[in-house]
Amino acid sequence: MLDSVAGLARTHSCGDLRAADAGAEVVLMGWVQRRRDHGGLIFVDLRDRGGLTQVVFNPEVNPDVHNKAGVLRDEFVLAVRGVVNLRPPDMVNPQLDTGEIEVLVEELRLLNLAKTPPFELEDFRVDISEALRLKYRYLDLRRPMVMKNILFRHRAAQVTRQFLNGQGFIEVETPILTKSTPEGARDYLVPSRVQQGHFFALPQSPQLFKQLLMMAGLDRYYQLCRCFRDEDLRADRQPEFTQIDLEMAFITEEDVYQLVEGLICALFKEMLGVELTWPFPRLTHEECLDRFGLDRPDPRFGLELKEITDLARASEFRQFKEVVDQGGIVKCLCGPGLAKLSRKELDDLIDLAGVYGARGMAWVKIQAGGSWQSPLAKFFPDKVKTALNERLDAKEGDLLLFVADESFVANTALGQIRGHLGQREGLIPPDTYSLVWVTDFPLLEYDLEEGRFVAMHHPFTSPKEEDIPLLDRDPGKVRARAYDLVLNGQEIGGGSIRNYRRDLQEKVFQVLSIPPQEAEEKFGFLLEALEYGAPPHGGVAFGFDRLVAILCGAKSIREVIAFPKTQKAACPVTKAPSRVEPEQLLELGLRLEK
Ligand code: AMO
Repeated sequence: MLDSVAGLARTHSCGDLRAADAGAEVVLMGWVQRRRDHGGLIFVDLRDRGGLTQVVFNPEVNPDVHNKAGVLRDEFVLAVRGVVNLRPPDMVNPQLDTGEIEVLVEELRLLNLAKTPPFELEDFRVDISEALRLKYRYLDLRRPMVMKNILFRHRAAQVTRQFLNGQGFIEVETPILTKSTPEGARDYLVPSRVQQGHFFALPQSPQLFKQLLMMAGLDRYYQLCRCFRDEDLRADRQPEFTQIDLEMAFITEEDVYQLVEGLICALFKEMLGVELTWPFPRLTHEECLDRFGLDRPDPRFGLELKEITDLARASEFRQFKEVVDQGGIVKCLCGPGLAKLSRKELDDLIDLAGVYGARGMAWVKIQAGGSWQSPLAKFFPDKVKTALNERLDAKEGDLLLFVADESFVANTALGQIRGHLGQREGLIPPDTYSLVWVTDFPLLEYDLEEGRFVAMHHPFTSPKEEDIPLLDRDPGKVRARAYDLVLNGQEIGGGSIRNYRRDLQEKVFQVLSIPPQEAEEKFGFLLEALEYGAPPHGGVAFGFDRLVAILCGAKSIREVIAFPKTQKAACPVTKAPSRVEPEQLLELGLRLEK
């Protein structure tokens, strides 16, 4: 009953034909999106990657073909040969690129049948569960709104490659079966059959290989590469994701900023037609925390945080004073017009601050003449109230929110509240983009659980030259030659200038409490390579999925990945990870405990 495709070649995609093609004989192939029977005529919307075309089966054109079209159902696979016909004016569909024409079918080949799909593939259906969508991803992808993102991603990759090729970069693939590269997540391990008891780690990034390529004299490297990180998933995280990874030799930070700004501007221009202004603003890590509470600032709206520790000290409010006495800080934000929030809404905000570690959040509603309505009012002398109102530029109808805690908690909690209010109150202007470099990160952060300093970026990042003496005296104060690029409050990329001298790299390992023997075992190849004429070098990597998701307005990076993993880090199509045969384990020298 099925026909062959032999002898018939597609002349157009289903999105190609226009009024100017009227009269042409064409061959289209694709899927039945919808079939409608109207007074003897059968209309089929035929769909392929390019779009939809209405094809018409008219008993007067060819009764056999019309008869055959009677069996067509949704998602059947067809080839049609016919003639392009202008639709009558009242039948033109302005919503459709091909809406001015239809194809009068002379030959129909039924190439395959299809079961009724588990969900409707209509474009406007958005209420399908994600679990079902991802299980039948090949059907989900047939929906033009889903396919659109994959095609967008493809173009973004082309623009990236074209730009970097034009700047003298060479695309090099680096190993997937390799050794652990510490980027802060757990490794995915792959057992070796040949060397039983030994494991490869899938790369968390190509970090060390790209550095070795600089030592090899490649000068400018890039790769759109897959990275693997076994970490807790969120909307903007996947266990395997793609980076635009690059590295350059003989450069400083300024060269990286300039190159990256060129790349990002090219992507915005080619993909969205948006001309960004550059250079992008730069904020130090310290200023970010101070003003926005987070190291991912979104300066597109106000509500900036202000420190009021000095004024809190001059109050009688015990909770604030205690925190300050213990070396903590008091941060505050002023929400213009937000005094309207109800008690319940305030309680919800306080709960949200609690999620980010705040033990409480105090509030003040500013009334006429700057007076305070607040449980705090009686603890603040009038002079201090006035000074606080002035510092926050608070006016009648505004809401002040305070968090007193150690600085990380106070900043994070209030920073998150800021982001939440910005979204909820619609303060973020639509279709605007904010790109900010965050610079001057601390090289190290103290890990209380591990009782030692850990690298804030990764251990290969260079300290600032002038801070090197602090490595021994006060490691927490050492600033890194590291930078992040933040787009609309999301970290889309990060990188650094690297240690290219063995002594400095060893010093950093030492401050990280990595004993020389362990450093040799894990990174001996790098240390050795640093002794054979390593050039000064540095680079950056972008989360390609994140960048594409923001550019095409997708809510989650899962929307721009053809076959994403679920929240449980599983592949919903193949059901991987799965159990393996005992023989396979035996061959690898492995035995399961349970
Ligand atoms: P980093 O770890 O900051 O740097 O990663 C670079 C960028 O990759 C993206 N990213 C992710 N995207 C999706 N899912 C994830 N699980 C995930 N993790 C990270 C982020 C991030 O900014 N080797 C260094 C780069 C360098 O120093 O050159 C690195 O990997 O957008």
